[in-house]
Amino acid sequence: MQLDVFTLLPHAFGWLTEQRPVSSVLGRSLDLRLFNYRDSTPLRAGQVDDDPYGGGAGMVLRVDVVAAALDAVYGGVPEHRVIALTPQGRQLDQPTVEELAGEERLTLLSSRFEGFDERIVTHLASDAVSIGPYILSGGELPAMVMVDALARRLPGALGSEESGLVESFSVALDGGLEYPHYTRPPEFRGWSVPDVLLSGDHGRIEQWRREQSLSRSPA
Ligand SMILES: C[S@@+](CC[C@H](N)C(=O)[O-])C[C@H]1O[C@@H](n2cnc3c(N)ncnc32)[C@H](O)[C@@H]1O
Repeated sequence: MQLDVFTLLPHAFGWLTEQRPVSSVLGRSLDLRLFNYRDSTPLRAGQVDDDPYGGGAGMVLRVDVVAAALDAVYGGVPEHRVIALTPQGRQLDQPTVEELAGEERLTLLSSRFEGFDERIVTHLASDAVSIGPYILSGGELPAMVMVDALARRLPGALGSEESGLVESFSVALDGGLEYPHYTRPPEFRGWSVPDVLLSGDHGRIEQWRREQSLSRSPA
């Protein structure tokens, strides 16, 4: 997958790219490119934002700046999906991650300040995605959330000891929550591991996990 992120803070992604799973797939199944709006802005002195028409607090990311960034990289609005990260978008969930992970190319647009000039969302982006019903200061964390969630779904992201198939929200668990996990010691401060997990009876363990998953998943 080629995943392009447009941001005002490309250096913020340094940590993410050094960690698994992103580091495992970088240069293999993931080609992650970071672009700074300031590098292609047609305005002087690296300007990217402006006062909102109608007045009010804060600055707004300009449509001509984002259009120039897309022109510089793709020669216009690309054919592939361009996702504006905005609290007003469709809320990200695992089915959306699975759907997007099937794309060969994706572009993420992040904003800061008061957000995007609305024409960016309506004319330059094909999708608008929110990572949840709360406000963050910029689109970098939402973009990183999406990069991480997508990277997990790419070939080579997870080691053989990790399961990318049986996890909360996965099809394997009917979109429900995962069962609880325990590891050594079997007893700590009087808190014991459920006997069934120590029984070695894989059929019973499987059954217990299914029940646990069902009981913690919303109906
Ligand atoms: C401070 S927010 C702007 C909030 C906007 N004024 C509003 O009330 O909806 C600045 C930028 O951070 C990003 N952002 C903040 N919260 C987000 C969320 N929950 N999901 C996706 N992006 C978010 C978006 O790119 C947004 O344009």
